[in-house]
Amino acid sequence: MPLDILVGAQWGDEGKGRITDRLSAQADIVARYSGGDNAGHSVTVGARLFKLHLIPSGILHPRTRAVLGNGMVIHPGTLLDEIGSLAAAGVDVGPQRLLLAPGAHIITPAHRALDGAEEALRGGSSLGTTGRGIGPAYTDKAARLGVRAEAMRDPPAFAEAVRRHEERLARLLESHYGCAAPDPGESARLYREYAERLRPHLAETGALLAEALAAGQTILAEGAQGTLLDLDHGTYPYVTSSSPSAAGALLGLGLGPRHVRRVIGVAKAFQTRVGAGPFPTEVHGQMSERLRGTGANPWDEFGTTTGRPRRVGWLDGVLLRYAARVNGLTDLALTKLDILSGIPTLLLCSAYRRHDRRTADLTGTPAELEGFTPDYESLDGWDADVSRLQSWESLPAGAHAYLEHVEQIAGVPIRWISVGPERDQLIVHEGAA
Ligand code: GDP
Ligand code: IMO
Ligand code: MG
Repeated sequence: MPLDILVGAQWGDEGKGRITDRLSAQADIVARYSGGDNAGHSVTVGARLFKLHLIPSGILHPRTRAVLGNGMVIHPGTLLDEIGSLAAAGVDVGPQRLLLAPGAHIITPAHRALDGAEEALRGGSSLGTTGRGIGPAYTDKAARLGVRAEAMRDPPAFAEAVRRHEERLARLLESHYGCAAPDPGESARLYREYAERLRPHLAETGALLAEALAAGQTILAEGAQGTLLDLDHGTYPYVTSSSPSAAGALLGLGLGPRHVRRVIGVAKAFQTRVGAGPFPTEVHGQMSERLRGTGANPWDEFGTTTGRPRRVGWLDGVLLRYAARVNGLTDLALTKLDILSGIPTLLLCSAYRRHDRRTADLTGTPAELEGFTPDYESLDGWDADVSRLQSWESLPAGAHAYLEHVEQIAGVPIRWISVGPERDQLIVHEGAA
């Protein structure tokens, strides 16, 4: 009865969707547990590129069921669009396969307006949110003012709850932010339609997941965002408003810790961040263009959700070690190793320095990162194209040295090495400790 939890070990966009897709082949259920359509998970299957924002990437395997957990915030319009485009691509997204937790919270038009208004008010110190209304929706959840998915069981009553909710937020938007608010009546009408279409997907997901585990099925919890964006454990306040780290999976699905078999951390072979906040190993100039790419390839470092160029840098081993601790990682999946091919010297941050003191472990919170400078180790790179290699043994010596160094710094074995976005561009490291 195993539960495997897959988390982003950095600032998001580590390639979680791609690894989830591969691991879902062995899962009975794949469940998203936190965040909303701030996430963008790209999955390449043959000639097709799927961009998923809410629906778990496991939906692309015909025998896997997909759950949207109670820890999520759902924009019903985005969900219906995603259902529509997957259905058009021939994927079964019927109510038997795609199950929505009653406890998930609903994102409304006023949440999105508030997200934009708050960012505008912050001006130069804005967080660089995705503008999807995530923060305001979780704020209402914590304030016990939110509208939950379960209310969609009764569409007229749901519409009325949305209207009252929007009227309250309209007063806030107009008086505090001086902004025009979305029309509550129009939102209520639209959301009633959404409820009619989404209510067949509502299911008692907590009980269903527990029954699946009791019956010996395998559940893969698919994280969104990343550990360093975690509301509690990330680079606060430059974080998202949910709990993407492993503990969030239990809360966001309604399961206890005794079921957990593996906690898989997905990390890129380098480091990226989209949005504001500290980033000790960030690089600029030519090397940043080399790591980011020009945008010509679908995997170049431009946001799946917003199209923004991602900030890039060298792999931060101190933060990876921190992510290993916070999540209790049992395994690592390292993605985009192919991007490092041809770089003569690779830098790897194994410690920080502050006031002449060297520290390899982050004992405080990562919110304090601004004062640290990275202490780098230099490693020889490799020239060979690794993107079609299928085994650990066939990787060049430089790649072995790099990967072994990362394992040693993180203190976690690298069990999967991704060398390209396609399903088969994944090396399974059988001998990982
Ligand atoms: P997620 O949010 O963690 O699922 O990651 P994203 O999908 O936002 O970003 C990862 C991007 O890298 C996507 O475009 C993937 O198709 C791509 N990708 C994943 N693994 C690899 C890899 O090993 N090599 C290359 N070149 N691209 C990859
Ligand atoms: P996936 O699942 C990368 C970042 C935003 C911003 C901060 C807060 O694709 O890895 P929010 O809209 O959540 O209030 O924004 O969090 N962010 C992400 N960055 N990948 C994501 O998701 C992200 N989701 C949110 O850029 O800095
Ligand atoms: Mg992404």
